[in-house]
Amino acid sequence: MRLQRIGILTGGGDCPGLNAVLRSIAKPAMAHFNATVVGILDGYEGMVEGRARELTPIDVLGIINQGGTILGTSNKGDPFHFPMGERNNLRIVDSSDQVLDTYRNLKLDVLFTIGGDGTQIIAHKLSATGMNVIGIPKTIDNDLEATDITFGHDSARAVATEAIDRLQTTASAHHRVMVIETMGRYAGWIALGAGVAGGADIILIPEIPFTWDSVFNAVLKRSKGARFSIVCVAEGAKPKDGDISVREVDKKRTDPVRLGGMGELIAKRIEDETGLETRVTVLGHVQRGGSPTAYDRLLATRFGAVALQAASQSQFGVMASLQKNEVVTVPLKDAIGRQRLVPPNSQLVFAARAVGTCLGD
Ligand code: F6P
Repeated sequence: MRLQRIGILTGGGDCPGLNAVLRSIAKPAMAHFNATVVGILDGYEGMVEGRARELTPIDVLGIINQGGTILGTSNKGDPFHFPMGERNNLRIVDSSDQVLDTYRNLKLDVLFTIGGDGTQIIAHKLSATGMNVIGIPKTIDNDLEATDITFGHDSARAVATEAIDRLQTTASAHHRVMVIETMGRYAGWIALGAGVAGGADIILIPEIPFTWDSVFNAVLKRSKGARFSIVCVAEGAKPKDGDISVREVDKKRTDPVRLGGMGELIAKRIEDETGLETRVTVLGHVQRGGSPTAYDRLLATRFGAVALQAASQSQFGVMASLQKNEVVTVPLKDAIGRQRLVPPNSQLVFAARAVGTCLGD
């Protein structure tokens, strides 16, 4: 197929590596296919509202190391549940026809959708309306089953590991318990990976609900020897006898639930129950910002190259995916709605336990 006009959008929460994918699609598209590359602004919101701009080679120069996305993104623009108006007067409408109009008005041959599961579910629905769509998976949480890893995760894990390293010295100096809350809504990959890499003493992840007693006992035991503890908590962690900690529910979002507060709760309970001085650090969006690691730049570049190749071979309705170290494409219909969770019997959990880390169970 002759690719003349290529659309690209970045959807959902940003993560390091989005610009690297964008570049690896746009550069060869312009140089080898002589195609026009159209950047859709602010994710699907831009598709609904017809906001886009043609990219030039200069736009994609020197962006491989830039965090964020030069196109902007949004986690509130699901065209099939599009929010109109403000909180008190909020209406949710189906604006998918407008997306199709934008696709036709821009005369796109293909739309690349760079995003997490929410973005790819929408992409799949759009491909059923006749659009040529190719997905590229991203998320710091690494919670997509259809790919061995998503780009963005390695960068977030590196930030969280460095944060633990830094907390360790101050925890040790003051003989304190330091609780660090990482992102990770349903999957504990960041907390587990950074926790093991940073040598955390207790790691709490959504896949292994914890008991309060095991957390209290672990910090009390440490207080007698090392005299400080690092507790690394995924935001989606929950006690066996309780639930996740929800910060707010925002109906405009593709996933309306915003988590937050588990780190604070755990720090307070540890201090109350053990009498040990405890502090909490919520890492938050620091994990999503800044430069991608070399690993994420390489993965992002490979994803983009394979996705463009798929488009040139008229393979649509697919998503780029890393399978056993090879980037391939998989049908979008098989890729969506399936979460990659930490198997509680995985080797990393086993290794964490082997070095004496408490998993809270
Ligand atoms: O899905 C990625 C993620 O970073 C989650 O880990 C986190 O819960 C969520 O996005 C935060 O979203 P927002 O930027 O809308 O607060």
